[in-house]
Amino acid sequence: MKFVDGDNISRYASSEVYKTANEKTKEFAKSAGCSPLVWWSLLGQYMRVLNVLNQDIKGKSILDLGCGSNGGTEEKIKYGSLYEPWFSRFVYQNIQELKLNIFGIDKGDLEREEFPHMQLNLLEEKALINNFKKNSFDIITAFRLFNSPELEKETYNRIEYNASKESSDKLMNILSWQIKEILKPEGIFLYYGVGEEVSPNKNINKLLPVL
Ligand SMILES: C[S@@+](CC[C@H](N)C(=O)[O-])C[C@H]1O[C@@H](n2cnc3c(N)ncnc32)[C@H](O)[C@@H]1O
Repeated sequence: MKFVDGDNISRYASSEVYKTANEKTKEFAKSAGCSPLVWWSLLGQYMRVLNVLNQDIKGKSILDLGCGSNGGTEEKIKYGSLYEPWFSRFVYQNIQELKLNIFGIDKGDLEREEFPHMQLNLLEEKALINNFKKNSFDIITAFRLFNSPELEKETYNRIEYNASKESSDKLMNILSWQIKEILKPEGIFLYYGVGEEVSPNKNINKLLPVL
């Protein structure tokens, strides 16, 4: 089992794999009518998954923590549709082709989503191990969960553009041992966007894949 900080991934897959990922995500973004920024972020997330799995994604199961939602969160107020569950939607829509399975979790509204999901507050003690069996997933992702403004509001009732290091650490302490339980022995926990007070612009730079 490995914990991987996706911010530190400096090398992505070969250019052929990048080209296919680029096309697939672009096609999806076009049909979903999402903004170029959403597409760019989605491409970065998909490339990170391909990268940590060494492109061997066939039949793999992903749990996407803080997958994004359609409302009831600080993200929706501050960023509109930017943090809807694009990655989970993308994988679900292309599930046959990508041969990846997806399950999304978020505190916000996921009611009308088609991909398998659960509305859950991850700050609740044992939230994961109460809902999933041991050795359930090949990869658990948490893209910008640890610097979520909703996390800061829930933890310290503070309204910020990003979560602080304190609330990020608190969530990591609650989750890390549970993640180890529900990941398969060779599984990977891939995250990026740890808690820090940064400006929205600086944060947006973190979305950009290094290719
Ligand atoms: C910045 S958004 C990122 C969404 C998506 N992963 C992405 O990268 O586009 C962070 C998400 O984490 C969710 N979140 C924050 N605190 C949470 C908690 N305690 N439990 C579950 N989800 C939480 C928020 O509701 C929000 O949808």
